[in-house]
Amino acid sequence: MKTDIAYDQLVNVEGRKQDDKKAPMYPRCVLALATLATVLLAAMAVYNLLSPGVTSSHPAPSSSLRKGESCSDPCKIVVVESIPEGLKFNSTPPTAHPSIFQAWLSLVAEARSSVDIASFYWTLTNKDTGTSEPTAYQGETILKELAELSGKLSVRIAVNTPQQSQPQDDLSLLSDSGADIRTVNMRELTSGVLHTKFWVVDKKHIFIGSANMDWRSLTQVKELGVVVYNCSCLAADLGKIFEAYWFLGESQSIPSPWPTNFSTLYNKDTPLQVPLNNTPASVYLSSSPPSFCAAGRTQDLQSILSVMDDAQSFIYIAVMNYLPTMEFSHPKRYWADIDTQLRRVAYEKRVKVRLLISCWASTQPVMFPFLKSLASVYEPKSKLDIQVRLFVVPASPKQEEIPFARVNHNKYMVTDKIAYIGTSNWSGDYFEHTAGSALVVNQTASQSLEPTVQSQLKAVFERDWSSDYSTPLTQHSNLKGLC
Ligand SMILES: *[C@@H]1O[C@H](CO)[C@@H](O)[C@H](O)[C@H]1NC(C)=O
Ligand SMILES: *[C@@H]1O[C@H](CO)[C@@H](O)[C@H](O)[C@H]1NC(C)=O
Ligand SMILES: *[C@@H]1O[C@H](CO)[C@@H](O)[C@H](O)[C@H]1NC(C)=O
Ligand SMILES: *[C@@H]1O[C@H](CO)[C@@H](O)[C@H](O)[C@H]1NC(C)=O
Repeated sequence: MKTDIAYDQLVNVEGRKQDDKKAPMYPRCVLALATLATVLLAAMAVYNLLSPGVTSSHPAPSSSLRKGESCSDPCKIVVVESIPEGLKFNSTPPTAHPSIFQAWLSLVAEARSSVDIASFYWTLTNKDTGTSEPTAYQGETILKELAELSGKLSVRIAVNTPQQSQPQDDLSLLSDSGADIRTVNMRELTSGVLHTKFWVVDKKHIFIGSANMDWRSLTQVKELGVVVYNCSCLAADLGKIFEAYWFLGESQSIPSPWPTNFSTLYNKDTPLQVPLNNTPASVYLSSSPPSFCAAGRTQDLQSILSVMDDAQSFIYIAVMNYLPTMEFSHPKRYWADIDTQLRRVAYEKRVKVRLLISCWASTQPVMFPFLKSLASVYEPKSKLDIQVRLFVVPASPKQEEIPFARVNHNKYMVTDKIAYIGTSNWSGDYFEHTAGSALVVNQTASQSLEPTVQSQLKAVFERDWSSDYSTPLTQHSNLKGLC
């Protein structure tokens, strides 16, 4: 996470590139919705002309509605978390998920032919961070295991081009052990960073979530992700996003359009139909920035807006950073796509909105007035119900010495219908310049024997929201000394 400081600086330097091409943001969301509505109406009209059978007395099977193809893989999805050392929840029932460390170990153990990892940076050892922490053990173990695998099977790593000052020992070790490494020069390509964090193993198992390849992400930073086992349809699709990074690592320029083999059938309109834990589900992967999206790929921002739009009763959001601005652009630019959507659904559909945002030593104070503004959309009599809380991961004096740790780094959203697990902070840069990706899962709880991903994320959110670590943010909150 240290590197985000660098991100800040580098984008400051590159900031000029971003000004000219953007129209004012305010009407954009409205325009996008209007365009979407027009396109939908047109598509429906064409569809009705072309397929008169749909309106006949036989209900059309969903496949004739051109849903994404279905897949019969026995996909098993597991919500995984890193809970920072010493953090205790007294929620009932307790929500215990396997750790991300366990998930990574099991992916390593499953691997037979290939491991592809996309990541921001690598600091899995005490040496990398100049610390001598016993809790670096988990990260060091993962590095050791991956180095061992690198000698035996295909290990490919796409990583954001490290700056001179960043530790590169992990990458050198992996490369010396036989891994293929490509650096993606996001600074040159989009003035952003490669912020994605995911694994694709044997083209059939995946991990995606907020955890960086950083020992602190296993024991000192609060993280959330999912592992999906035995799911080649989904893994093949995530593999295409990996191949795009891999390609960019070599070509250092963005194809436009992308060759057709990068395109996907699965998106928000035609998701992949697949059983997850024996429950029917529609899923798709979204990606950012827009220039990295081949034909058919839903842009990450569009997936967030559409998930919000689809919510009927609640939207719970847990993200580290939330800003209706382009965080790193100069001159400053307001960016309200997400903020407007939240206010709109809260007002038009009376959807209950909860935001759980992180608060730590590096939190920018500029976030608070905007969050207070959102939280002011609260008036029970008018059924306006947006609430904001700040989550603080406490630190002992010893833990305080660990640089860039002790923070809630989750990036997910859960609504009454959908689970969204992402890798991006929520400010404009992450959607316009930064490479990120997300998994969107739509499951019908009533058909499920096991808890759905949606219900598990909801439980995680509620546990954190009502824990001792979260503090309501209102107009009158005095934040002095809180984070
Ligand atoms: C999100 O933003 C914060 C503050 O800019 C930064 O410290 C953090 O590293 C970012 N997230 C990730 C995964 O880098
Ligand atoms: C994946 O499928 C294989 C073969 O059917 C099975 O042995 C294995 O237990 C499955 N893995 C998981 C994590 O469910
Ligand atoms: C598409 O084909 C090109 C050229 O063979 C290859 O480099 C690239 O990895 C392929 N992309 C995917 C997603 O497989
Ligand atoms: C979730 O699935 C339902 C039923 O298939 C569908 O009506 C709805 O539009 C989907 N929601 C999203 C956000 O994709």
